[in-house]
Amino acid sequence: MPDPTIVAGIDPVPGVAKPDAILVADGVKRRFGGLTAVDVAHFEVQRNTITALIGPNGAGKSTFFNLLTGFDQAQEGTGTFDGQPLRGMPPAKVARAGMVRTFQLTKALEGMSVMENMRLGAQDQPGENFFTAFVPPLWRAREREITEQAHELLHRFKLYEKRDDSAGSLSGGQRKLLEMARALMSKPTMVMLDEPMAGVNPALTESLLDHIIELKEEGMTVLFVEHDMHMVRRISDWVAVMAQGKLIAEGPAGSVMQNEAVQDAYLGAHHDTDLGEDL
Ligand SMILES: Nc1ncnc2c1ncn2[C@@H]1O[C@H](COP(=O)(O)OP(=O)(O)OP(=O)(O)O)[C@@H](O)[C@H]1O
Ligand SMILES: [Mg+2]
Repeated sequence: MPDPTIVAGIDPVPGVAKPDAILVADGVKRRFGGLTAVDVAHFEVQRNTITALIGPNGAGKSTFFNLLTGFDQAQEGTGTFDGQPLRGMPPAKVARAGMVRTFQLTKALEGMSVMENMRLGAQDQPGENFFTAFVPPLWRAREREITEQAHELLHRFKLYEKRDDSAGSLSGGQRKLLEMARALMSKPTMVMLDEPMAGVNPALTESLLDHIIELKEEGMTVLFVEHDMHMVRRISDWVAVMAQGKLIAEGPAGSVMQNEAVQDAYLGAHHDTDLGEDL
């Protein structure tokens, strides 16, 4: 359930400052040839919230995720994560700083087993340093730790029985779960999920929603992209809306969906999204 108290007092206007922002983006621009895919003047994510990033297809949501997590570089702009400047930081370093993401199209490595995928998720942990790698007792202790952590997460995501199966043999929904579990291997403080529920059957959708809520309960911050407004309303404390690269609205789900600019953006995009106003 959304928690209005943790965002109480924050004005629902695009670019508004948050009292305890974990992530800050400022003046971020990304152009592809003549197209400006992202042009976000200012955006902050309040710590320990579930924040949804919504907007019509092509609004720039995934590109913005890529920029924030180091998978793409902005032509202009700056950002900080937990006070650390993000500019020029490669994805592995961003992950070590505590921010991990999943992809819209799952990147589970299909030729590898579920367990091997989980081990890959651990590689960006602070323990993974040069010294540890060359001292066998430390290295073995680290391996055991990784195995235990992976088993624990696989139990939690109900994938333990599949641990030796090839990731390619999992259903679409199970792959989404694996991606989330793998992201947690690096013990992040912020998790960015790009359409975690897309293409997932209703039963697994419920469990994904529960997992997202759990992340917040454990103290993490979640920023997720989602097209299904009913899902967005059920779990988001705060909703940010992008259209044509810009942040056009933000606020609690109810007020954001009523916003005229948001409704125009969806209509203008001939989008068939049900904004869920009947809820
Ligand atoms: N690598 C690229 N090269 C050229 N254009 C790109 C590239 N990546 C994204 N774009 C364009 O940038 C715009 C924003 O794309 P993006 O994928 O960020 O949108 P989105 O909001 O995630 O959309 P969706 O909801 O469909 O996933 C689109 O017009 C897209 O075609
Ligand atoms: Mg996208």
